[in-house]
Amino acid sequence: MTSSLHTPLVLAIESSCDETAVAVFRAPDRVLGHALASQVETHRRFGGVVPEVASRRHLESLDPLLEEALQQAGVTLADIGTVAVTRGPGLIGAVLVGLSYAKALAWGLGVPLVGVNHLEAHVAAAFLHQPELEFPFLAMVVSGGHTSLYRVEEGLVFTELGCTIDDAAGEALDKGAKLLGLPYPGGPEIDRLARTGNRDAIPFPRAWLKKRIDFSFSGLKTALRVHLENHPATPDTLNDIAASYQEAVVDVLATKAMWAAEREALTTLVVVGGVAANGRLRELLTERGHTAGCRVVIPPVALCTDNAAMVAAAGARMAAAGRTAGLDLDARARLAVGTGA
Ligand code: KG4
Ligand code: ZN
Repeated sequence: MTSSLHTPLVLAIESSCDETAVAVFRAPDRVLGHALASQVETHRRFGGVVPEVASRRHLESLDPLLEEALQQAGVTLADIGTVAVTRGPGLIGAVLVGLSYAKALAWGLGVPLVGVNHLEAHVAAAFLHQPELEFPFLAMVVSGGHTSLYRVEEGLVFTELGCTIDDAAGEALDKGAKLLGLPYPGGPEIDRLARTGNRDAIPFPRAWLKKRIDFSFSGLKTALRVHLENHPATPDTLNDIAASYQEAVVDVLATKAMWAAEREALTTLVVVGGVAANGRLRELLTERGHTAGCRVVIPPVALCTDNAAMVAAAGARMAAAGRTAGLDLDARARLAVGTGA
């Protein structure tokens, strides 16, 4: 057996949206180095992510982040045994930048390339938080682009149980925040204001979809717009509106997650993605999980929002299972989970 110092390491790259990140990782669960550059400030003045600007920023960030991650890990490129990279879903130009960079590294180093599904990576982040997590479990991915529930079995095999039929939960929060005149990204702003607001002030609608495990948030956004037309927000009402709007989003998320757990007879729920950072969602899920006898696992915020450690965690598992890719691997704006890479 080789000493741990000589165990081939995984270098992982994430560049699918507005965070560029590089990780150096030792399987199964040790992050040795992690460097991240957020583009949030760059995109804020546009009120959302501008794809072309994101691609350029990824390109500028990758070299210094790679250097920083290697330095933190105390290793050189020669120690890298596998290169893992997000190949979708995401902004196609942004994904292409990371994928091309990863291909060049894998080819230059003569090591295998692994193409990782960004959503599967979000779920794999749970193992960095709870290495002893046992299959099967229920996973909820709630981000700016996705809102889905999966049954996850041995070997990270996914079955989708439900997803949003229109806006993602994070998108609903971001769009709601925009209507309230709050800066981008709106999710954390609403979270902050809601802490001192009355969540029962306005009865915003919940789309239960006849007990289906799918989600719909576009009607809620319309309800907010209509409410604001009739009752423009004032400094006195802003926090109540934010709290009531957020409650309508997280109530549906928590309720449907519990329906899915019951239907699938699963007793562990893993919650990941940027919206999993939401304080009220964490509180409500923990409460409801306690009542329903379902253990709720929510990794720390840094592992919930986009990062490269999660890509490494998923990539290392895929590499161990022989799921490596050729240099002809393509980038995908859309990519369902469980379709392989
Ligand atoms: O997973 P993520 O970092 O990027 C992708 O969409 O893949 O998620 C970003 C989303 C945004 O919609 C942002 O508003 C939301 O996560 N978000 C939050 C919070 N922090 C980030 N939503 C609610 N409360 C938060 N604290
Ligand atoms: Zn994400």
